Amino acid sequence: MIISIANQKGGCGKTTTAANLGALLAKKHRVLLVDIDPQGNLTTHFGINKANQKHTIYDVMLNGRIEDAIIRKDGIDIVPSTIDLAGAEVELTGKIGREYILDNELKRISRKYDFIIIDTPPSLGIFTINSLVASDYVLIPVQAEFFA
Ligand SMILES: Nc1ncnc2c1ncn2[C@@H]1O[C@H](COP(=O)(O)OP(=O)(O)O)[C@@H](O)[C@H]1O
Ligand SMILES: [Mg+2]
Repeated sequence: MIISIANQKGGCGKTTTAANLGALLAKKHRVLLVDIDPQGNLTTHFGINKANQKHTIYDVMLNGRIEDAIIRKDGIDIVPSTIDLAGAEVELTGKIGREYILDNELKRISRKYDFIIIDTPPSLGIFTINSLVASDYVLIPVQAEFFA
């Protein structure tokens, strides 16, 4: 089951939900967390040193091979993100089928996991679209307040 955590609004608990839902499910299930937000807060949450990563979601989006970008941390598999991803939006402009990159990558490995949870940026750009295309469900954290 692939779940996007999405909301165009920032600061509404997407990353916190992805991290805690992932950690809880990982107690009994095989979980993959995918950080597809250039802010990389989910990556930071799990104490992954962004400066040391050879392969991140940036490489997945540009060249494929999600297998190379998976890190095992505290019993959870994570695909990390760094600020490099911010540039990928422009680099992917004009690429045919760019909405399906993550979907194609996850299809190849989804049998290995019970849950794949994707943390998305606070926008409706190409990364959130990739996440939605790849997902079976969308979870939308909302703070009960006026602007939300
Ligand atoms: N359920 C919650 N109750 C109170 N504060 C929360 C809750 N979920 C998240 N936060 C806080 O709100 C801020 C934004 O959360 P975050 O998960 O980073 O949002 P997003 O990923 O949507 O930008 C963080 O400081 C986080 O600690
Ligand atoms: Mg976030």
